[in-house]
Amino acid sequence: MRDIAINIPIKVYDINELNTDDKELVNKAIEATKTSYAPYSHFSVGAAARLENGTIITGSNQENAAYPSGTCAERTTLFYAGAAFPDQSVKTIAIAAKNEKGDFLTQPIPPCGACRQVMLETETRYGKPMRVLLYGSEGIYELRSVGDLLPLSFSAKDME
Ligand code: THU
Repeated sequence: MRDIAINIPIKVYDINELNTDDKELVNKAIEATKTSYAPYSHFSVGAAARLENGTIITGSNQENAAYPSGTCAERTTLFYAGAAFPDQSVKTIAIAAKNEKGDFLTQPIPPCGACRQVMLETETRYGKPMRVLLYGSEGIYELRSVGDLLPLSFSAKDME
């Protein structure tokens, strides 16, 4: 028997400590929560992706009366980015969420498992790390790649 320990480096920033680009992206994700369609969960999530060419794509969660038909903010955003700019890698994605009362989460919003898998595919598809910024009003997590957000992940290379 042997142990394996996985160390995941995460930097925690106050919003005012972010560089101009990251601050802009986080603010776009915050802004995108306003476009959420969440009549069932009343939980509004926004995401903003900065592409290699500088374009920022935003999206939000879009729910449906047939619950599984709805989609999270991260997937709305990344699928839109892929459809509109298939040749552009995603350099950074920022995510923000607010509850029914309109309060942003104090702790960084953790993306769901399905979104982590989709984020991973975006990263592996372009072969470049995609940074992840998770907004919390008391601190923002920066992960240097999706691989860090989804250790022991399954991707196409595992089928070779
Ligand atoms: N949701 C997201 O959009 N992103 C996440 O990372 C977590 C969950 C959405 C899905 C659903 O519309 C609502 O939040 C409650 O789960």
